[in-house]
Amino acid sequence: MALCSGRAVIFDLDGTLTQSEEGIFNCVRHAARAVGAPVPDDTALREYIGPPLAYSFRAFMGLDDETAERAIAAFRERYHRVGLFENRVYPGIRRLLRTLKARGDYVGVATGKHGDATRRILDHFGLSPFIDSVCCATDARSEKVDIIRAVLPENCREAWMVGDRRFDMEGGKAAGIRTIGAVYGYGTLEELQKAGADVCVESVQALIDFLCPGEEPPRGAFLSIEGLDGSGKSTQIALLTDALDRWGFEVTHSREPGGTRIGEMLREIILSPENPEMTAETEALLYAAGRAQHVRELIRPTVASGRVLLCDRYVDSSVAYQGGGRQLGVQRVLDINAMAVDGTLPLATVYLDINHEAALKRRHAATSPDRIEAESDAFFARVEQAYRELIWRDPERFIVVDASQPPEVMGEEIAQRVIQRLVEDELHASSAC
Ligand code: TYD
Repeated sequence: MALCSGRAVIFDLDGTLTQSEEGIFNCVRHAARAVGAPVPDDTALREYIGPPLAYSFRAFMGLDDETAERAIAAFRERYHRVGLFENRVYPGIRRLLRTLKARGDYVGVATGKHGDATRRILDHFGLSPFIDSVCCATDARSEKVDIIRAVLPENCREAWMVGDRRFDMEGGKAAGIRTIGAVYGYGTLEELQKAGADVCVESVQALIDFLCPGEEPPRGAFLSIEGLDGSGKSTQIALLTDALDRWGFEVTHSREPGGTRIGEMLREIILSPENPEMTAETEALLYAAGRAQHVRELIRPTVASGRVLLCDRYVDSSVAYQGGGRQLGVQRVLDINAMAVDGTLPLATVYLDINHEAALKRRHAATSPDRIEAESDAFFARVEQAYRELIWRDPERFIVVDASQPPEVMGEEIAQRVIQRLVEDELHASSAC
């Protein structure tokens, strides 16, 4: 048994750390079909999250012992293959676990799940580094109180059990520790209060406020996405956002030119086809001015609040479009931007790699080009060349992805590579604490 001199916080998994209904619902449906039972509707399916499977299949599906065993086998087979990853980390949970770790709390997970599913889920979503101990059900240990006792460290000054069902509250009480009912999960306030919850929280933020009052949030991250007009950025931003949500990263979107009230006003001026007399120098300085505001008003505060800021274009666009396209020169544009950026660079920049001829074909499908999109093919050839120079100068930061692939294939590659970077960065930050 581990030792702990401070505080221990033990979490249930499903409905507390992760929103696991998609996988669990799919597996209950699969099990019902496998034994020829009627498939429950969505409301009835919610009951299956939390209680032990043997109890649920008998109590809710009305199966006899032998059929319930077969249903459980079918459930587990699908669950271990795919169901466990049809899951989402609740927004805020990543931030909470990182904060607890930084404070030096002992963090445990106690679940009624059998086998190695819990570890696989925590590993898959990159949460394991923030958890000291995991304890699951076994054939000999299926009562929640025993699972909680097994994960609790010795000698802690204070211990809490956080869960979303009555089993968690009852188990915590029986183990002699205090309990927090997570009303945002699958139980109800009434269920949790009746089971004797010491505290109930309506949201993950309320849980953070209760467990870590006044604590500084861990640092978030800044990401940007770049590419020629027509490279498919909008689709990829939507796909990446969904993947980041699933992992529990809290995402704020922004764009350049724009992102702030002043930035959006500058955007109007820069992109308006009614400003044909704008010189290349004016254009470069206006982009940089909007960026100076963006960095200070939005990018830095968002990252400091623990969120991931995902920006559609940043300083690389200026270097490529004004430095390359308008021929101001890469170094001159970097110099113009030095004060605007002031050292704030993305942790990672996704570059959608498409050549300018293919991008042009895609753009032809779009209506009414803005002042930049209306530029010549030679202009975009220079933009592409300048991007290549930037990638060559800073290969660590860029994640270069072949944009001629189908969007979903590209989306998976981008999500996997970006999430790997974010998880590494979190680890690095937590080891620096
Ligand atoms: P936008 O409509 O946002 O295009 P896209 O969807 O392709 O990003 O318009 C932004 C245009 O501004 C785009 O053509 C690239 C250009 N741009 C620059 O020339 N320099 C810059 O610094 C930035 C941020 C954008």
